[in-house]
Amino acid sequence: MKTGVAYAGNMESIVLFGPPGAGKGTQAQRIMDSTGLPQVSTGDMLRAAVSAGTSTGIEAKKFMDAGKLVPDEVIIDLIKDRIKEDDAANGVMFDGFPRTIPQAEALENITTVSHVIAIEVPDGKIVERICGRFTCAKCGAVYHDSFKPTSLDGKCDFCDSEDFKRRADDNADTVMSRLKAYHTQTSPLAEWYDSKGIFFVIDGDREIDKITDDILSALK
Ligand code: AP5
Ligand code: MG
Repeated sequence: MKTGVAYAGNMESIVLFGPPGAGKGTQAQRIMDSTGLPQVSTGDMLRAAVSAGTSTGIEAKKFMDAGKLVPDEVIIDLIKDRIKEDDAANGVMFDGFPRTIPQAEALENITTVSHVIAIEVPDGKIVERICGRFTCAKCGAVYHDSFKPTSLDGKCDFCDSEDFKRRADDNADTVMSRLKAYHTQTSPLAEWYDSKGIFFVIDGDREIDKITDDILSALK
């Protein structure tokens, strides 16, 4: 097990890895302050591009709606641009990137990765997680109808907004395609990163707080 410290200042990035609905976004929001690293979610960047109607968004939308991976070149270009921003100077926390071996190879030329945190959740739990998800439209906080409701009915815990949204790809049919893409195209990365000695497996089928504690321990 690697013993380096991943916290800010050492110019190294970390990767949150796992199937759809594993809790990558949930955990990224909780460990951002401790790590000092900004969350870089390719899914969020693509959804922003779709909303803005950019050429990238228009191309990506057909893949996302079908639960398929967006082509590597599109994703790698997005990351190359994002990593140039000031807040990425000390490294970033990737959420949902890389998802293929070519993306991981490209990343090696972009930044150093110190830890890949794999959040494991059985396939049988994924559909319920995805289909109950909603997020705050203002600050992006992630909730779940049953597992993580807002503390006050209809009001975000963090920013008091009463505006929430659900993702277009959060339906039972698309989830099955996303899971298939994960098992065929993304899970081979586990062995690739394990062989580099930077792969840390966390049981994601537990209470959210316990998972956060284990991730922070793995990063020390
Ligand atoms: P993306 O947005 O990355 O989606 P994803 O990988 O499918 O992951 P999710 O965001 O659905 O899940 P999550 O792990 O973040 O879980 P969350 O914390 O929200 O990608 C979307 C699409 O964009 C892809 O399908 C693809 O088309 C494209 N794309 C993106 N990146 C790409 C790339 N690199 N290459 C190619 N294409 C790319 O939690 C889920 C729910 O569970 C929430 O409701 C939450 O409250 C709840 N929850 C969380 N933790 C727990 C817990 N411990 N117990 C109970 N409930 C929990
Ligand atoms: Mg996410």
